[in-house]
Amino acid sequence: MLNIGEISEQKKVNGRDFPLVVLPPNESVAANPVSMLDWFETNKSDIHSKLIEHGAVLLRGFPVESADRFEQLLDHSDYKNNPYIGGAAPRVQVTKSRVVTANEAPPSEKIPFHHEMAQTPKPPGYIFFYCDTPSKTGGATSILHSNEICQRFFELAPEFAKKIEEQGVRYIRYMPEVTDNASPIGRSWKETFNVETREECEDLLREHNMSWSWEDAGVLKTETSTLPAIRLDKETEQKTFFNSIVAVYDGWNDSRNVSTQAVVSGAGSLMDADVMEKTKQAMDELSVNFRWQKGDVLLVNNYTVLHARQPFTGQRRILASVAIKEQNE
Ligand SMILES: [Fe+2]
Repeated sequence: MLNIGEISEQKKVNGRDFPLVVLPPNESVAANPVSMLDWFETNKSDIHSKLIEHGAVLLRGFPVESADRFEQLLDHSDYKNNPYIGGAAPRVQVTKSRVVTANEAPPSEKIPFHHEMAQTPKPPGYIFFYCDTPSKTGGATSILHSNEICQRFFELAPEFAKKIEEQGVRYIRYMPEVTDNASPIGRSWKETFNVETREECEDLLREHNMSWSWEDAGVLKTETSTLPAIRLDKETEQKTFFNSIVAVYDGWNDSRNVSTQAVVSGAGSLMDADVMEKTKQAMDELSVNFRWQKGDVLLVNNYTVLHARQPFTGQRRILASVAIKEQNE
């Protein structure tokens, strides 16, 4: 039996705690990392079921004192590492294999809601966060249940929603040759695709069904194939707002990109500005912003839950790891 806790920030989605809060079952597990790893391994299938039911699980009060311990914890699960290929955000590898920094975009910027790598053909099934250093103020990792915002999207703009559901969307992005840390989407094409040359890059783009062109100053323009925007999650049988429409429409601005032109419908039309604004507001209204505590681990089902990051001050170090989902293809 898991020891279920509460936090004041949580809410109910479809009658269930969101996120579900899990506490150590006894003092030994709370104090001793070896006991914790044992406990985690013994309870991994139970924790996994809760993750699918609730969408997000917060492990609080466990002795996860470092990035390496976080990696060990994940190594005691059945989740398989998914390397960060095709994501837009600048990141740095922290541990040997599976832990990277969360998006290193400037603290003053909000990172909008998204499913991790929803714009790639094979997004990871899970994203796990670890709080190494909480920020002084702000800096919540906000979570939003995708089924809840999907329902709201269809209520707000039934016709537009239906069109987007039927046609799907494409994303267009200009990537620099050298990573630009001043931009939230400044990851270079070399890092994004983990390649050195244009030829290697083109091979991967072909593999990802993307079209491309080379622009001035080594900039690469990519356009995804048409991707579904509303997906039925087979595992939970929930319709989800599985896309990056609002995030891209609102956030893909820098010296190379114009956000309102960075996402188009399958037929090639731009998004409706009014619907985008209302959907963005609904996302903020329906989300949970919880305050990180050192050692917190947040498990997120990337197929049913979106996440965002609030602006912050002070030092903040949140680490992340993504994993593959094999049963839900
Ligand atoms: Fe993310």
